[in-house]
Amino acid sequence: MENVAELMASRLTPESLDAVRIVGAAAESAETAPYLVGGAVRDLMLGCTESVDLDIALVGADGSSFARLAELTGGRIARQSQFVTAKLELDALVVDLAMARAEEYPTPGSLPVVRPGTLREDLLRRDFSINAMAVSLNSETWGDVVDLNSGLADLSGRRLRILHEKSFRDDPTRILRAARYLPRLALTPTSDTLNALLQSVSLLDKVSPARARNELDRVFTENDPQGAMRYLSDWGALRAIHPSLEFQSEAWTRYAAQAKGLPALERTSLGYAILCCGISDVDANGLVRRLNPPVAVRRAIQEAAMLGRTASSGLLNQPNSELARVLDPSSESALLGVALANGGELGSRISTYLRRHRNLRPRLTGDDLIEMGAPRGPAVGSILERLRNAWLDDDISSASDELALAARLVRGSAES
Ligand code: CTP
Repeated sequence: MENVAELMASRLTPESLDAVRIVGAAAESAETAPYLVGGAVRDLMLGCTESVDLDIALVGADGSSFARLAELTGGRIARQSQFVTAKLELDALVVDLAMARAEEYPTPGSLPVVRPGTLREDLLRRDFSINAMAVSLNSETWGDVVDLNSGLADLSGRRLRILHEKSFRDDPTRILRAARYLPRLALTPTSDTLNALLQSVSLLDKVSPARARNELDRVFTENDPQGAMRYLSDWGALRAIHPSLEFQSEAWTRYAAQAKGLPALERTSLGYAILCCGISDVDANGLVRRLNPPVAVRRAIQEAAMLGRTASSGLLNQPNSELARVLDPSSESALLGVALANGGELGSRISTYLRRHRNLRPRLTGDDLIEMGAPRGPAVGSILERLRNAWLDDDISSASDELALAARLVRGSAES
């Protein structure tokens, strides 16, 4: 049996190593058998040190195990679902705890019915062989790898393989997961896996809005969303989520360059804005109903749909002030999404607007205008708008130009 104790010591961050040591010892005292499972094991084997998500499965856990672990580690249980999973907050990081379990899916796409299970059952219920390995955190067997489904062989052969033929049928969100893993880890699906996947694509519409969105959101946070999107499009999965969704290769190349470093919600909003650029309002509302996203994402979807259509109907020939009038009410995510989806001259005009024009304001304030003699009321707003437009269209280029124009406009407003 392979042992990765040394690998863990050298590859895990000091905080992660501390966390697995502390949780491992506490789990043992709580009379459960702890195993590191899922993506952390896969990434450890691959030598990636980026992953900080620690998933720990507890064999033999019951309803009181999580609270006991919190007590023993001095941590705090942040979120717990029906005694099956919990987040344990330690000083330095958060660890995902789960009761080792067996699952049964009553219907495709539904939530599974779970019961406590053995390690074997817990590994077998998982999506792919590469995610179905475990590393013992028990003191006596510390670092022993449990690989009952040839995950290591598949990792080194760069294969993506499901563990049973009903895997995608049970949980069609695994189709989205497959699209993420293939480009990220340079894998090829086995032919059985690909066939099973293709047969289950139409079942994506059985998945709840929250689950579908959760996995689609994660596509946008990949380093290479383009690769994942291409798979989803080729498999018909994008259209299965909503018929209006289409793949545009160049848009996703541009996205990859822009999205790095953006906070998660902005990345996701931007991803949806690209997907929805120019679709009809009916489709945008249909997608919002399908995914039920948070307000920021809903806004990005609806505005990018509308702006994308406006943009294709001659916005390019308009002066900056007119462009700003159309773009001002939209969110930055929607605007950047439409810029990235279009590229070209329109893309660069929207980018310029975002960089230089969106926050451009006249130097004079409303109070200045009133002091110059403008009547209080709507006239002040309208003069400020005309001053801003003059800056946008390069009709003025200095503070003295602005003052002269303001004086003229104030005189005009006082006379009318
Ligand atoms: N899992 C699964 N089926 C799903 C979701 C998750 O079998 N639909 C299992 C996999 O074993 C996975 C683990 O639960 O490795 C943890 O899930 P998650 O945190 O979503 O995946 P990671 O592999 O940790 O992370 P990532 O996909 O981002 O690399």
